[in-house]
Amino acid sequence: MNSNIPAFHYFDNEIFSQESDKLFKRIWHFAGFKSDFLNDNDFVTLKIANTPIVVQNVRGNVKSFLNVCSHRFSIIQQDKSGNRPMVCPYHGWAYDKDGIPSGIPKKPLFKKFTKDELCEMKLKEFKVSFCGDLCFVSLIDDVEPLQDFLGVFYEELETMSLSLGNRIDVNSMEIEANWKVIVENTLESYHVGLIHSETLAKLEPSGLDFCFDKSNSSWTSNLNIAKDKGGYKKIDKYFSPREYDIEGYKHILVFPNLLVSSTHGVSFNYSLVEPINPDVTKFTSYVFTAATDSIPTPIIIKAFEESLINFNRQVFEEDKAVCQLVQQGAKHTHLSGKLSDEEERVHHFQKTYLGYLNNES
Ligand code: FES
Ligand SMILES: [Fe+2]
Repeated sequence: MNSNIPAFHYFDNEIFSQESDKLFKRIWHFAGFKSDFLNDNDFVTLKIANTPIVVQNVRGNVKSFLNVCSHRFSIIQQDKSGNRPMVCPYHGWAYDKDGIPSGIPKKPLFKKFTKDELCEMKLKEFKVSFCGDLCFVSLIDDVEPLQDFLGVFYEELETMSLSLGNRIDVNSMEIEANWKVIVENTLESYHVGLIHSETLAKLEPSGLDFCFDKSNSSWTSNLNIAKDKGGYKKIDKYFSPREYDIEGYKHILVFPNLLVSSTHGVSFNYSLVEPINPDVTKFTSYVFTAATDSIPTPIIIKAFEESLINFNRQVFEEDKAVCQLVQQGAKHTHLSGKLSDEEERVHHFQKTYLGYLNNES
């Protein structure tokens, strides 16, 4: 198979801005977990298609707004996440549950605003939808329902997210590579033997058990650590019974930039790949263990969590290094690249991506 994406798509500024308009503005974008918005005023901020967004619990409802003040355009919520009412840091304008200015300091100094004028200054609001505990935001109103967007993976993603227990690590890094280089890296196991020879390769993931549905895809693989044997047996027992229980490894791409994986339903990784510019990407990885009623946490489970964190971090460092090599090389080729059967999910991702860029999706 030839690669579908021409090499210049990995570094070209014009392509990068087309991706904002034709792709990231037209899809459901992962924004956070329900646990990020448990209390009134809990919020997260992110950029989708370079647009600053706040997603916030406003009196019990999770809502999403343009994170830009209507007075003189300051960013409203500055932190990545936190708990704070929607009040602008510059002159203190406060916003109500619909994003309408509801508190204006020294109000008599302005000409008197009519109700309509206040409504005109409403923060632009975006659609929010949940799949289990996963929160997604769309910049456009006429996006397809989230359930359709996630297709055959909806139920599995829902069950996985509802079985999440402790968030044991959040690891955020900047990678000097185009966001697609990073997504594609996660979609194939062809590189595992060489790049992860001391980590992932030892678990011997293998096979071509892929599933494709619309924009998304998955890979299911056996591992050489059986959950009911050796050292893993106690870990398996501690997290049993569990809502999401599988044999081996599952990896799902939620197009275009969320990767969800689980080992035995005991541990989970959610990785979000956010473009910063054509050559730089923010990569954030969340590691969870399955929910359990057993407390306190035994030493063996603490050690397991520790090794899981280190394992994930090391694997992502290994991937980071090789993705940066690809970014350097992509600028100097006249070839289109080749894909093996083991890289079929890369092929599917690239085809889907080009469909969006060519306005076919
Ligand atoms: S810019 Fe926000 S209150 Fe003035
Ligand atoms: Fe990898």
